[in-house]
Amino acid sequence: MVAVMDPQLAEQIAYYRAIAAEYFDHALDELGGGEIESAVAAAAPRGDVLELACGPGTWTPMLAARATTLTAVDSSPEMLALAARRAPGVRFVEADLFAWEPDRRYDGVFFGFFLSHVPRERFDAFWAMVARALKPGGRVVFADDGYRTADELVYGEDSDRIRRRLNDGNAFDIIKVPHEPATLQERLRALGWDVRISAAGPFYWGEGSVSSQETHRDGADTASR
Ligand SMILES: C[S@@+](CC[C@H](N)C(=O)[O-])C[C@H]1O[C@@H](n2cnc3c(N)ncnc32)[C@H](O)[C@@H]1O
Repeated sequence: MVAVMDPQLAEQIAYYRAIAAEYFDHALDELGGGEIESAVAAAAPRGDVLELACGPGTWTPMLAARATTLTAVDSSPEMLALAARRAPGVRFVEADLFAWEPDRRYDGVFFGFFLSHVPRERFDAFWAMVARALKPGGRVVFADDGYRTADELVYGEDSDRIRRRLNDGNAFDIIKVPHEPATLQERLRALGWDVRISAAGPFYWGEGSVSSQETHRDGADTASR
């Protein structure tokens, strides 16, 4: 079981552990119209691939079918058990991604619906970790949404903190950063990434690689301070 000191991250981890069994009840598929799935499948990385925050295996079987090897990381043992049922043969790792360090480099890194849960103050360090997980020339692919319901915005529109409820009414506060695709692309460029982001409705997806090792190293150094 991962031990997490930051109460905000701990509550987010607890939420996803608790919601694992009903995760797909809360999916937003009607808003995506299949476009995001097709785009991600077309861009899916090949070779040795790392999936961050795999959840119950939403994307894992598709990634595994295209990769030579797939390693999938998540903090929730409940999510990992569901993912393992959907994608046999994948190496699963239980870890807090904000404390985890890749133990090798990959041809590609993918994360679905996780970036919006990365607190703003951890954004640079998160992307520095992604860069450290990639071989030179490796590709990052990600997908997410900026969708937040009026009910969730108990701290107001301007807060990244929202309140989510399980089917039984139990409430958890989590982070949901409503990234705007153009701003996100610029922010990543400033960190040394060359990433192209596309959007459809509340969804966006991106694909790219580290463009400048120099800028990136600065970002990693900043992040580790
Ligand atoms: C919105 S779900 C996304 C799951 C899946 N990738 C998808 O697209 O459906 C977020 C996932 O992040 C995981 N997670 C949350 N905080 C984490 C952390 N600190 N370290 C690792 N995984 C975390 C949760 O357990 C959950 O599976």
